[in-house]
Amino acid sequence: MDGSFAYYGTLIHSHSPSQIEILDDTLVIVDDRGKISHISPQFQPRDGRSLEDSIGPLIDRPDARIPVVRLQSPSQFLVPSFIDTHVHAPQFSMRGLGQGLHILDWLDQITFPHEAKFRDTDYARQVYARCVDMGLRQGVTTACYFGSLHTPATKILVDVCLEKGQRAFVGKTCMDNPETNPEYYREDTAEVVAGTREVIEHCRAVDGKGDIVRPILTPRFAISCTPESLTELGKLAREHEHAYGVGQGIPNQTHFCEAQQEIDATLKQYRNFSCEADLYTHYGLFDHSSVLAHCTLLSEDDQAKIKQRNCGIAHCPASNTTVGGGFMAAPIRKLLADGVTKIGLGTDSGGGFSCSIMDAMRLALIVGNAREMLSAGKEERLKLEEIFYMATLGGAKVLRMEDRVGSFEVGKQFDALLVDMSDPYHNASGRFDAVHTMMDGESQSADGIRSVWEKWVMSGDDRNLRKVWVGGKVKKDTLGDR
Ligand code: GUN
Ligand code: FE
Repeated sequence: MDGSFAYYGTLIHSHSPSQIEILDDTLVIVDDRGKISHISPQFQPRDGRSLEDSIGPLIDRPDARIPVVRLQSPSQFLVPSFIDTHVHAPQFSMRGLGQGLHILDWLDQITFPHEAKFRDTDYARQVYARCVDMGLRQGVTTACYFGSLHTPATKILVDVCLEKGQRAFVGKTCMDNPETNPEYYREDTAEVVAGTREVIEHCRAVDGKGDIVRPILTPRFAISCTPESLTELGKLAREHEHAYGVGQGIPNQTHFCEAQQEIDATLKQYRNFSCEADLYTHYGLFDHSSVLAHCTLLSEDDQAKIKQRNCGIAHCPASNTTVGGGFMAAPIRKLLADGVTKIGLGTDSGGGFSCSIMDAMRLALIVGNAREMLSAGKEERLKLEEIFYMATLGGAKVLRMEDRVGSFEVGKQFDALLVDMSDPYHNASGRFDAVHTMMDGESQSADGIRSVWEKWVMSGDDRNLRKVWVGGKVKKDTLGDR
């Protein structure tokens, strides 16, 4: 028996930002390398055979015995697992602090003193282990991390992600500007560059193909850097343009047009540029591999350049409405209407309060409603399909991983969640209870399944995620069927 397995039941995933696909009575087979090898919708065993006996002929291995788990319909279904496109791992232990502060005050008073603690590698290991465990438990199987500025702690974050098997981009946060960073939490330009190289080399040494962990260039934001460090980071991007295959280089991430206080300070410090897009473009850090967190206050120019250069956007509605500068909300409807679809969700960690992408989905819905009202209806609210897309396939596109994860396609990795919306029960395998909207007689029809999916998106939490897989490997199991 190899490690292949199969599930039979309902699969739900995104096709496009506005469309989900519900695949019913579907057989999905995962091969021993964790890849989806077959998807057969509306699959019925023939000639009175059992499901198990039907699989061998289907995969041209008549004698193969692959275990098949049947999902209950409509209360259980599979979805692609979540992608967190913007999260600060060191802030995991300060979430919720400093609510209401404007961004630069919040960084000075709360965040920098906290992140400075990651000089202590024991502390780093402890917090990062908890951060990654909690991510996996909540269905986040890919995360795009900012570390602290410390090279040793950032290498520990790489190791923890690899050990625990959470796919990750890991960046050493670069901060070398003596005008904007306190003395106790900044480095010299040379240290920034050498440390970034060291993290890149470490990632490549421990995971050569980058299946689980890859590095990401991480200028915290322009004002925390100097023109010299931005120039060097741009050079590193070019130097590693094909690090993971042709055109698959090392991506970059930053905080982009997040708050008025930040934008004003940026354009004052970098007087030669009239928008942030031009600034990062000048330094070679604004292209298809850029992950731009926030984008709440985009000028027309910024938006046009994001589209033109095919950048990815990490929408972080929790932090945008709690710290930073009052109530901010990225113009997601405007971007989608403009054809910009590389948009994912970020929890942001400290800037927000929740490390749950389910919360991020609902907050995205809420800030979308606010934008509809504030624009007198011009920017139509977001649909459930769109927030689910951002949590899954959209996030994969932002991180340029859509050929590997984000939806259910033959050849992609089985990074998935088993959602259970059953009413509470107690049986031989244990007790299940959660706080989701109860079932109300929904049938197995497409409408019934859709209602249960809506209930999950709006009222579910980590308890409803009974299983979490990364590349076919079980990372959480509260069901105990396999
Ligand atoms: N801008 C620069 N650093 C940060 C950070 O840590 N969080 C948020 N939300 N914005 C930032
Ligand atoms: Fe952030």
